[in-house]
Amino acid sequence: MGLRKGINSDLEYIFDIETKVYDKPYWNKKMLNEVLSGKTENRIWIYELNKIIIGFIIDLRYANEVNILNIAIRKSFQNKGHGTKMVYNYLKSLPKKCIVLLEVKKNNYKALKIYSKLNFQKLYIRKAYYNDGADAVNMRLIK
Ligand SMILES: CC(C)(COP(=O)(O)OP(=O)(O)OC[C@H]1O[C@@H](n2cnc3c(N)ncnc32)[C@H](O)[C@@H]1OP(=O)(O)O)[C@@H](O)C(=O)NCCC(=O)NCCS
Repeated sequence: MGLRKGINSDLEYIFDIETKVYDKPYWNKKMLNEVLSGKTENRIWIYELNKIIIGFIIDLRYANEVNILNIAIRKSFQNKGHGTKMVYNYLKSLPKKCIVLLEVKKNNYKALKIYSKLNFQKLYIRKAYYNDGADAVNMRLIK
């Protein structure tokens, strides 16, 4: 069980997870393909269990700042602790001195639970930030 950098042949698996976990997925196939092809600064990290892709993380790294842009666990593997383990392993893999930031919907209780458990703290709220009117919570990892 571990994380590895995404490669082009992961596209269909990632796209399948993304479209099934979100009602309105933000990342379309073209965007994911561009990330996997190294055409953007974003990176995809694949989380596997017994060689099955069960989740992924998309991040953006600039200097010593890391922004977590998306995390997802395949529906049938959710609520079994995999999301927590994936993010925990990911954080362990980051350089010690980096600042880790993220943004999450205020009503995404599962994601918020994982981030709080792993020591992220709320920085501020952006009111009605998302298209559906939901607020965004901006968080930072406290080391
Ligand atoms: C968010 C996501 C990655 C979590 O993955 P997961 O494997 O189901 O998460 P885990 O099983 O590790 O942990 C979920 C935690 O939320 C808790 N939880 C579940 N439903 C909850 C609810 N309605 N309210 C509060 N906590 C809840 C669980 O009890 C668990 O905490 P615990 O381990 O302390 O008991 C997954 O649900 C997902 O892919 N969601 C869709 C994409 C998404 O929303 N990504 C986040 C974008 S920032």
